[in-house]
Amino acid sequence: MSARAFVSGLSLASLLVSAVACGPSAPPPSATPATWGGEVTPIVSVKELMRDVIDPLSDNIFLAVGIDVSKSGVKEWAPTSDEDWAKVRSGAVAMMEVSHLLKVPRLLAPKGDINNSTGPDAPELSPTAIRAKIEKDPVLWQAKIEALRNVGREVWDIVERKDTPALTDAIEHLDEACETCHLEFWYPGQMERSRKLRELDRQAREQAATSGTAPAGASRP
Ligand code: HEC
Repeated sequence: MSARAFVSGLSLASLLVSAVACGPSAPPPSATPATWGGEVTPIVSVKELMRDVIDPLSDNIFLAVGIDVSKSGVKEWAPTSDEDWAKVRSGAVAMMEVSHLLKVPRLLAPKGDINNSTGPDAPELSPTAIRAKIEKDPVLWQAKIEALRNVGREVWDIVERKDTPALTDAIEHLDEACETCHLEFWYPGQMERSRKLRELDRQAREQAATSGTAPAGASRP
């Protein structure tokens, strides 16, 4: 009997046993424990996880493809060697796995750091305000985490295929995954401001259209 057949024979047997043993109130049988060593505990804040792991490793993806236009000409680059692709892959692995560390409740910023959150029009929420938002809507927080993880999977797959054109799209998806979480939880004021600017822009265009003049310095978001 092959090892595989033996294992599936075993799990069939244990399935039958548990089917018999399970009363209506018994928990569903689970082969894998929630962790391999007790609770998962955090050490650093979300801010430090961003600064020291997610941000630098996302650059392995963000900077993998690019174009630089300067006086000395146009320089384009994309991964070519196995080493280049390995770097992109390490970015993908970080996005897939480190993203889930954002599910572990932890400080938002180091103790005593209140972000750029004071004064009128403060650009950032305070760590306390961010925590309140997460606790009010953990499903949204989770969705943003899964979105980041999914882009990690997308990039991982691209590395397998060494598909450079797809990498360019994935970089856009990554940018979106970072930004939509930041706009929701870190600097939501910017979303409000850009909405207001768009509205002003629209009004200016309308006025210009009705009066036949050019839009009067409408600002763009
Ligand atoms: C699930 C939500 C979420 C996702 C996804 C996310 N971030 Fe963040 N990020 C945050 C929050 C919240 C903060 C603000 C923490 C604070 O300052 O209290 C932050 C802060 C940061 C900071 C500031 C760190 C500092 O030292 O001030 C950087 C840089 C950053 N994120 C980069 C990224 C990049 C790059 C990505 C995508 C690859 C990303 N983040 C994805 C939630 C997220």
